[in-house]
Amino acid sequence: MAGSMRVVVTSVFLALLIETSTFEYVCAANRNVSCHEVERQALLKLKQDLIDPSGRLASWGNNLNCCNWSGVICDNLTGNVIQLRLRNPLDPYNGFYIPSEAYAKMWFSGKINPSLLDLKHLRYLDLRGSNFGGIQIPEFLGSVHTLRYLNLSAAGFGGLVPPQLGNLTNLHVLDLHDFSSLVYAENLQWLSHLVKLKILDLSSVDLSKASDWFQVTNTLPSLVEIHLSGCQLHRLPLQADVNFSSLSILDLSSNSFSNPLIPGWIFKLNSLVSLDLSHNNFQGQLPHGLRNLSSLRYLNLYWNNFNSSIPSWLYGFTSLEFLNLGSNYFHGSISNGFQNLTSLTTLDLSDNELTGAVPNSMGSLCNLSEILQASSSPGCLLNRLESLYLDSCEIFGHLTDRLLLFKNLADLSLSRNSISGSIPVSLGLLASLRTLDLSQNRVNGTLPESIGQLWKMEKLWLSHNMLEGVVSEVHFANLTRLRLFQASGNPLVLEASPEWVPPFQLGVMALSSWHLGPKFPSWLRSQRDFVYLDISVTGIIDTIPNCFNHFDGPLPCLSSKVNTLDLSNNLFSGPISNLLCSKYWM
Ligand SMILES: *[C@@H]1O[C@H](CO)[C@@H](O)[C@H](O)[C@H]1NC(C)=O
Ligand SMILES: *[C@@H]1O[C@H](CO)[C@@H](O)[C@H](O)[C@H]1NC(C)=O
Ligand SMILES: *[C@@H]1O[C@H](CO)[C@@H](O)[C@H](O)[C@H]1NC(C)=O
Ligand SMILES: *[C@@H]1O[C@H](CO)[C@@H](O)[C@H](O)[C@H]1NC(C)=O
Ligand SMILES: *[C@@H]1O[C@H](CO)[C@@H](O)[C@H](O)[C@H]1NC(C)=O
Ligand SMILES: *[C@@H]1O[C@H](CO)[C@@H](O)[C@H](O)[C@H]1NC(C)=O
Ligand SMILES: *[C@@H]1O[C@H](CO)[C@@H](O)[C@H](O)[C@H]1NC(C)=O
Ligand SMILES: *[C@@H]1O[C@H](CO)[C@@H](O)[C@H](O)[C@H]1NC(C)=O
Ligand SMILES: *[C@@H]1O[C@H](CO)[C@@H](O)[C@H](O)[C@H]1NC(C)=O
Ligand SMILES: *[C@@H]1O[C@H](CO)[C@@H](O)[C@H](O)[C@H]1NC(C)=O
Ligand SMILES: *[C@@H]1O[C@H](CO)[C@@H](O)[C@H](O)[C@H]1NC(C)=O
Ligand SMILES: *[C@@H]1O[C@H](CO)[C@@H](O)[C@H](O)[C@H]1NC(C)=O
Repeated sequence: MAGSMRVVVTSVFLALLIETSTFEYVCAANRNVSCHEVERQALLKLKQDLIDPSGRLASWGNNLNCCNWSGVICDNLTGNVIQLRLRNPLDPYNGFYIPSEAYAKMWFSGKINPSLLDLKHLRYLDLRGSNFGGIQIPEFLGSVHTLRYLNLSAAGFGGLVPPQLGNLTNLHVLDLHDFSSLVYAENLQWLSHLVKLKILDLSSVDLSKASDWFQVTNTLPSLVEIHLSGCQLHRLPLQADVNFSSLSILDLSSNSFSNPLIPGWIFKLNSLVSLDLSHNNFQGQLPHGLRNLSSLRYLNLYWNNFNSSIPSWLYGFTSLEFLNLGSNYFHGSISNGFQNLTSLTTLDLSDNELTGAVPNSMGSLCNLSEILQASSSPGCLLNRLESLYLDSCEIFGHLTDRLLLFKNLADLSLSRNSISGSIPVSLGLLASLRTLDLSQNRVNGTLPESIGQLWKMEKLWLSHNMLEGVVSEVHFANLTRLRLFQASGNPLVLEASPEWVPPFQLGVMALSSWHLGPKFPSWLRSQRDFVYLDISVTGIIDTIPNCFNHFDGPLPCLSSKVNTLDLSNNLFSGPISNLLCSKYWM
């Protein structure tokens, strides 16, 4: 086949994953109390209505003692069922924002039998990660008065949140974080009855009509956490007397508020430890009021329109562990002051208009330029850093052994800068490295074999540099977890024996303009998980082997330059019209 073909096999779904908050850990109660017959029958009915393809409820019914069934927890004195821990044991999304097949196999579908009401002592219900196919959250749940903890996040419900939930006056935790945005509320009047509520997560529930959302949450005096991310909220009140003065977590991200400024009442929440206002439209300078929130450990202002320099008072926030100022219009140079933020584990300053005052001394994060250039030993106070994102920050200089100062570094992202020189062999000693992005720089020389030691590496971007020479099996020796490898735009030559079986299973690979041909690389046959594969312009003059050729998903879009295409023996589905567009084929 012609070497200039790009294969995009599946589309990528975007999903927002927000995982926070903890709740009291309740030990598994004794399994040797025996359960009540009424409750046993109720559980059996519940099981009947749940579709359980992976047999997670296989133990239900095996013996008389339902306290011994999986996910069922009884009071260790009375034998009453007090908890149903039925959440999906797997994480919903793999690294590429596609619900993994394994996860889908584990979820419950079907419906919830009202026999649940026979569990008169149920305090804890967790059905997280199910797929109830868009049916409404059952109204009768509002009658399980004993509930203190209700977690229906990512459970596949749809429609109106039943106001009956307002009858659950014992609730401490309500999590309806929905992910699919199919659930909505007309108003939050019902919520005002839940006066014991400590944790409220309605993220991705459509609250665009619930104009009373602030007024109602403000009447709940016990609230410690509010998560209203992606709720289609339009407006934040400018002035308010806030009741939730003990609030420690406030997440109002992804709402596109019309407010240009962060309203003042937020600065009165001086017990806040976590504030997430990312993905909104706030602009201007970082408001002075933020100085009041000096207990913050987590501050996320990613993707707003702040356009000042970074104020020096921010460097007094010595408790900060997570700071994301990425994708704004902050300008000025990256100051030495960041050295004072010694608790930082994550720092993201990517994609602003930050520059270095002096060429080649850009940035002074532990004096970054010294780190990049190995001069005297600066000593690094930021030695807790695990994630450092400085994409597009006009960083000059070379990568040097000084990077080892960041000994806990797991994620390092320096794309779209002007980093030159070669990759130091010592990089292989950054043993915690999980993601590395050096794409779009001027890195030259060969790829050090030591990279093959980075056994935790999952994602590696090296595209569009000036790397050259040979890449061999040694470069991947221990990269068993590698899922993404993008290194297009470097004249590298891959030399692997025809028998090579790589230690990894890649989902995304881009090696455009490498030298791979003329034979189709046989090791690709071992890779079964591709969602994206680009091996264009690699000098392959061969046919795609049959065993590799089982593409599924929608038909690819075609470039007008393709004149012959054989898609036989595949599992494509969807409309044929896809073939005729040209969006992906430039
Ligand atoms: C459970 O069984 C153990 C011994 O098998 C016993 O010591 C314990 O008291 C029992 N617990 C209850 C709550 O009956
Ligand atoms: C239930 O009890 C049986 C026998 O005592 C034991 O083999 C089994 O593992 C228990 N199941 C659970 C879920 O605890
Ligand atoms: C029963 O459970 C409570 C808490 O749930 C625990 O404190 C207590 O020790 C348990 N009793 C027995 C006998 O296991
Ligand atoms: C709901 O369950 C998920 C998965 O177990 C968990 O991550 C989340 O923190 C829970 N929500 C609350 C408020 O506890
Ligand atoms: C439950 O809530 C509904 C609607 O809010 C209400 O009409 C009903 O009286 C409540 N039931 C109880 C038992 O509180
Ligand atoms: C604060 O909460 C109390 C009781 O929940 C309520 O009466 C009061 O109106 C609330 N204040 C505001 C400003 O909403
Ligand atoms: C920031 O943006 C605002 C609103 O667009 C504008 O009025 C102001 O001049 C900008 N300030 C700077 C320093 O760029
Ligand atoms: C900051 O806190 C002080 C003292 O608690 C308070 O007087 C002041 O109004 C607060 N500033 C803002 C902007 O909320
Ligand atoms: C950083 O901390 C040092 C020592 O505590 C202090 O002298 C300096 O002013 C601080 N720098 C900034 C920018 O806050
Ligand atoms: C960082 O180090 C470079 C090279 O040693 C030096 O020229 C520069 O002034 C230092 N920058 C700061 C802010 O200390
Ligand atoms: C890499 O580029 C630098 C200039 O930035 C040059 O001095 C060096 O010789 C180059 N190294 C290789 C191996 O091409
Ligand atoms: C890979 O890991 C093994 C075991 O951890 C180690 O013995 C070996 O030296 C490593 N190989 C490379 C190339 O890093």
